[in-house]
Amino acid sequence: MAFKLDSVVPWGRTMDEYREMFLLDEEDMKKKIAGFGDGPACFNAEATRIGKDVTSYDPIYQFSREQIEKRVEEVRDVAAMEEMLRACKEIRIFPIVDLDANDSDMIMDVIEHYKGKYDVRIVETGYEFQKHANRLLIIKRV
Ligand SMILES: C[S@@+](CC[C@H](N)C(=O)[O-])C[C@H]1O[C@@H](n2cnc3c(N)ncnc32)[C@H](O)[C@@H]1O
Repeated sequence: MAFKLDSVVPWGRTMDEYREMFLLDEEDMKKKIAGFGDGPACFNAEATRIGKDVTSYDPIYQFSREQIEKRVEEVRDVAAMEEMLRACKEIRIFPIVDLDANDSDMIMDVIEHYKGKYDVRIVETGYEFQKHANRLLIIKRV
């Protein structure tokens, strides 16, 4: 059953949740990491505190708290992925279901768009954000 979002409620995940969600192991954590859409998460703050190299990109940083509360978010689309792939060798997208816990049409379109040109994989993670939302999409330059 779908649920309706009556207001935008920014909430963010912790570093441990990010690590579980994106399968970031110790070796990954030593890399220079670009986080797209990190705005409400404390991943960057926590990682930076322990000496990791994380840069976060989020259009939300240009808005005040009041503006953020009013803002309707458009999180992911092929254009955004294109931009992320231009900047990064590998991107990881989580989750890949919509609010009804069905495979997101947008994600399926993205997979169709990139398979053949990139190494496209869906990997199960230990983090289940909502029912069936435990799969990670990895798109890697070949
Ligand atoms: C639901 S929040 C997820 C926050 C965080 N990734 C986490 O898991 O806790 C989605 C965020 O993506 C950001 N966003 C939307 N479009 C974006 C884009 N084109 N590039 C980067 N971030 C974007 C939004 O501003 C919002 O802060």
